[in-house]
Amino acid sequence: MKLKKDEVYNELKILRENAYVPYSNFRVACIIYLKDGNKIKGVNVENAAYNPSICAERTALPQMITQGYNKNDVELVALYTDSEGFGSPCGTCRQTLFELLLENQPIWVYNKKEFINSYDVKDFLPYAFTSKNIG
Ligand code: THU
Repeated sequence: MKLKKDEVYNELKILRENAYVPYSNFRVACIIYLKDGNKIKGVNVENAAYNPSICAERTALPQMITQGYNKNDVELVALYTDSEGFGSPCGTCRQTLFELLLENQPIWVYNKKEFINSYDVKDFLPYAFTSKNIG
């Protein structure tokens, strides 16, 4: 599967509209492209009580697991945020990305205006706490 940066961006911008963001009005969208051609999508979903709000990445990744996929099935992860500059996954999402994806899994990051860069999961979380630390 050959994914194109502009086609992925178009899909993210369509998905962005589904974000439920009455409190921040800051939309985030995440698409996990699987090697079998399927896609798993997530958006951020906020809550009046704030704490139960969930990020787009952590809406998408548990669905991947629920549907029986794992890190070896992933072709690409694409992330859109409403940022003007660099749109960066939050700390909790970095930990979840590290847990459920390969360390060298590329993540294409986009903001409001453009494609920013491709990062590996490990770029987002150096010195990660992993199962190896538990022993
Ligand atoms: N948000 C995400 O969905 N992913 C991130 O990695 C960063 C933050 C969401 C949470 C909240 O709904 C909004 O962005 C503003 O923080």
